[in-house]
Amino acid sequence: MVKRVILVTGTPCVGKTSVARLLAEKLNALYVNLTELAIKENLVLGRDEKRGSVIIDEKGVKRAVGKLIEDCGEQSVVVDGHYAASVVPKRFVTHVFVLRRDPVELRGFMERAGFLGNKLWENLAAEILDVCLVDALKAYGSERVCEIDVSKKSVENVVAEILEVLSGSRKCYVGIVDWLGKLEQEGLLEEFLRI
Ligand SMILES: Nc1ncnc2c1ncn2[C@@H]1O[C@H](COP(=O)(O)OP(=O)(O)O)[C@@H](O)[C@H]1O
Ligand SMILES: [Mg+2]
Repeated sequence: MVKRVILVTGTPCVGKTSVARLLAEKLNALYVNLTELAIKENLVLGRDEKRGSVIIDEKGVKRAVGKLIEDCGEQSVVVDGHYAASVVPKRFVTHVFVLRRDPVELRGFMERAGFLGNKLWENLAAEILDVCLVDALKAYGSERVCEIDVSKKSVENVVAEILEVLSGSRKCYVGIVDWLGKLEQEGLLEEFLRI
């Protein structure tokens, strides 16, 4: 099989790690978590308190990811992280899956994970305003980017959908969700978009 380098990106709490781990297992691929890699390689510059995430040395992580991808030869790689769009060298990347989750559901996931105040609203705004999608499109172009709406789906179902895209039996698209429009229609936009 041809080596694939698959990025799984999206807003914090959307379900990247759950999906990327299972996908890597199904594909017998190497699983790479960018935050764990940055910590392990001493490439954390600080913390972004507002978003509750770590600030990574992007150049350093890019180098480390490139090396991992090269070192594993023909084995496929699944990269998990919301920085995925900026730190995986473009020449390697074959597929980018941007996971999307209905902000109403995502808020519940974030609250369960302990997100509060700024951290909650900043990250919800990022989902509502398609930040990860735009970053992925800017970095890799629409040919390689595929959006997956994971709302109300199990991890297994999401992975099955991704496998169908990889095998060519399912077409993938970008522009499949409109959270702004949906929240507006539900009368929830002001409550959800607080920045
Ligand atoms: N499809 C899903 N259905 C239900 N719960 C999920 C699903 N995907 C993830 N979760 C749960 O949501 C939380 C965040 O998931 P995680 O994979 O860690 O997201 P991320 O890596 O994007 O931050 C975890 O508690 C996880 O078990
Ligand atoms: Mg994660």
